[in-house]
Amino acid sequence: MPEIFVINGVNLGSLGRRRPEIYGTLTLNDIEKLLTDEFPEVSFEFKQTDHEGRMVDCIRGATESAGIIINPGAWTHYSYALHDALESVNAPKVEVHLSNIHAREEWRRFSVVSPAVDAVVTGMGAFGYVAAAAYLLSQGEDL
Ligand code: DQA
Repeated sequence: MPEIFVINGVNLGSLGRRRPEIYGTLTLNDIEKLLTDEFPEVSFEFKQTDHEGRMVDCIRGATESAGIIINPGAWTHYSYALHDALESVNAPKVEVHLSNIHAREEWRRFSVVSPAVDAVVTGMGAFGYVAAAAYLLSQGEDL
């Protein structure tokens, strides 16, 4: 059974209540259920933390997995520590943002972690996590 880590960072534990007009009404639990329903053949490891060092630990712990789906929240825009942790992990990695970070404030338009991942999904809402999982599972296959 392929193991995929889904790592959500700072403030993403408040999904559903936090700015629903931007991030949608689904909670993080709802998104996790969406993934387990959609991909019953996958063993998901769901992590959420508001502590940057714990996020680094989660990334390192995913080294042997089939892939990492990561939404670092606001850390996206300034955490070189997360960039370096991602860079040091061999598993394929997809960065996901619920909102379209390119259509928001200037400071959100740049991601310091993007150079350390294989792909970025932004602006697809919760479906972005599903798309990321489908991509990780299709590694090495052409459509
Ligand atoms: C986010 C976008 C970030 O700019 C923001 O700080 C978040 C969520 C997204 O999923 O759209 O917390 O990563």
